[in-house]
Amino acid sequence: MRLHAILVLLPSAYAFQIQFPFKIPKFFSSEGITLEAVENPPPPSATPRIAIIGAGAGGTSAAFWISKAKERFGLDVEIDVYESNDYVGGRSITVYPYNDTSLPELELGASIFVQANKNLWRASDEFNLTRKDFDDENTETAIWDGESILVSFSGSWWDTAKVLWRYGFLSPKRTVSYVNTMIDQFLTLYGVATPKWDSVGDLASQLGWSGLVNATTVDYLLKEGVSEKYIKEVVEAATRVNYGQDTDHIHALEGACSMAANGASGIKGGNFLIFEQFLNHSGANVYLNTPVSRITPKSSEQSQLWSVKSVRGTVDYKSVILAAPFHSTGIKLPLVLTEQIPAQPYVNLHVTLLTTTSPTPNPEYFGLSASTEAPRMILTTNETAKTGGAKLDFNSLTYHGLVREGEWAVKIFSDHEIADEWLDHMFRGKVGWVLRKQWDAYPKLPPTSQFPPVKLDQGFYYVNSFEPFISTMETETISSRNLVDLLLNDEFGSSICDQTISASSEEKQPAETSSPDVKDFVFGWDC
Ligand SMILES: Cc1cc2nc3c(=O)[nH]c(=O)nc-3n(C[C@H](O)[C@H](O)[C@H](O)COP(=O)(O)OP(=O)(O)OC[C@H]3O[C@@H](n4cnc5c(N)ncnc54)[C@H](O)[C@@H]3O)c2cc1C
Ligand SMILES: *[C@@H]1O[C@H](CO)[C@@H](O)[C@H](O)[C@H]1NC(C)=O
Ligand SMILES: *[C@@H]1O[C@H](CO)[C@@H](O)[C@H](O)[C@H]1NC(C)=O
Ligand SMILES: *[C@@H]1O[C@H](CO)[C@@H](O)[C@H](O)[C@H]1NC(C)=O
Ligand SMILES: *[C@@H]1O[C@H](CO)[C@@H](O)[C@H](O)[C@H]1NC(C)=O
Ligand SMILES: *[C@@H]1O[C@H](CO)[C@@H](O)[C@H](O)[C@H]1NC(C)=O
Repeated sequence: MRLHAILVLLPSAYAFQIQFPFKIPKFFSSEGITLEAVENPPPPSATPRIAIIGAGAGGTSAAFWISKAKERFGLDVEIDVYESNDYVGGRSITVYPYNDTSLPELELGASIFVQANKNLWRASDEFNLTRKDFDDENTETAIWDGESILVSFSGSWWDTAKVLWRYGFLSPKRTVSYVNTMIDQFLTLYGVATPKWDSVGDLASQLGWSGLVNATTVDYLLKEGVSEKYIKEVVEAATRVNYGQDTDHIHALEGACSMAANGASGIKGGNFLIFEQFLNHSGANVYLNTPVSRITPKSSEQSQLWSVKSVRGTVDYKSVILAAPFHSTGIKLPLVLTEQIPAQPYVNLHVTLLTTTSPTPNPEYFGLSASTEAPRMILTTNETAKTGGAKLDFNSLTYHGLVREGEWAVKIFSDHEIADEWLDHMFRGKVGWVLRKQWDAYPKLPPTSQFPPVKLDQGFYYVNSFEPFISTMETETISSRNLVDLLLNDEFGSSICDQTISASSEEKQPAETSSPDVKDFVFGWDC
């Protein structure tokens, strides 16, 4: 097992420098003058360049982390961000009902992050963005199996009388403990002694999560003594709304993430504002509407470079950060690189956003009497369909507040397109605006112990190697932080926090830093 602590990372980085004499290691002296400049004067426009491909959570945060090293140590590097869309944010994007920007925006992609997501939380504070708190919405939630509503409740999933009545005390309690254990371990990623990894599998074993990622959620929780009924109904409702996958398919780490909803928040105006701010603070050059079509290695006598081809032409870079799911990018890479990245199916998710003047879904659809007020958050379990019962028409259906007096926004997730007639029935003929969007939303997440490489080659890094492990906005910012550290160490003799990654930083205490409150310490921000 290659435990990827900082200690292990250093010798291998140095080994590279010895093996490849053409690579010029760059060190900074205390005056900020590079030794390279003294030993080997660079040509006039020799500022090294880094290309980032993708301006979603992963790519924009990568630019931000690099800029922290520029700010702290005067790292001399130019960053170019390539994005094929005409907007920043990737799978984070907002739309307005009726295209009317005076109405409240709706998230079409990623909508929620939680308090344990310290990078996004911290970023929203630093950038003066306002968080909307979803915990406040005490909506009645129901679990639907395609034939009947199995249970409905308001408030937290595990402490209402109805939940205890149906599932008993132990299953909710054991599930809370499974989620909390995961979160405690997750939080070590923000400490000074955070693991650093060049393999996601190594990170899994360092965090003690190999057994979580290599089991399905249902198998793992059964072993923990959680009842099958609770898993198939409550936990599956969560895995289906969060990842469009059932508990017998999704691994138990993502199962735990699906249940971790404490402090659920989103950014007023749109989560993409965080990513726009990452870029604005990074000083990177941003090229929208600029898909990269090909990346090829180019060895010169002095260094190994990467030629990045796009409508801008071909530009050479010292390093490349790929921050998009590789198979969806259409980028041509040398075979030695592509064959390292395993095929990665994504969940094809249909998102239907709409407005309605119907204050609740149609109760009759759910077998309730016409005069009943149907719950406004309907989650689903696929168990009945799997045992030959009625098939589900959707994964989740949720009301998202008023867009104006007497008109509500609704979001439906499904694995197929939702027809107009179906909407008419569900909302009793009172449908206003409708918008449909298909996403390759998140990876299919079966149990695994194999992950794509973090580093595909010298100077070439892959942010979305993290997605089959955990796929969220926050974890993409963690993945980018880790690989920016790796890149700076490998290519520039620098890092985000210490000028060089120091072998002793594991012993360093947060108290040594300027941060007054150790609890709020976030690695990379406070160093
Ligand atoms: C409907 C939905 C709901 C979700 N809900 C949540 C949620 O509540 N909370 C949460 O945390 N996560 C959620 N997610 C997942 C979350 O959106 C992703 O995990 C995260 O946004 C991925 O960020 P990324 O930067 O890695 O990838 P992306 O956001 O996909 O960014 C990649 C970017 O690369 C660009 N690109 C691709 N190819 C090229 C090319 N050849 N050249 C240039 N640019 C290229 C793409 O246009 C894209 O902008 C949700 C996703 C969806 C779709
Ligand atoms: C809404 O605005 C978008 C972007 O400006 C545009 O592509 C779309 O056609 C508009 N839709 C309607 C219904 O006006
Ligand atoms: C955020 O607000 C504070 C206090 O008003 C201000 O000092 C700071 O510069 C602002 N930061 C940004 C990024 O606008
Ligand atoms: C899963 O991981 C655990 C912990 O590392 C290990 O003991 C077990 O053998 C693994 N199981 C499989 C099926 O790979
Ligand atoms: C970020 O910078 C761009 C370009 O300068 C600007 O258009 C945009 O408004 C800025 N975004 C924010 C949120 O400040
Ligand atoms: C739900 O069950 C149906 C019927 O067995 C199956 O076809 C479908 O793939 C399942 N959905 C998911 C997300 O696994």
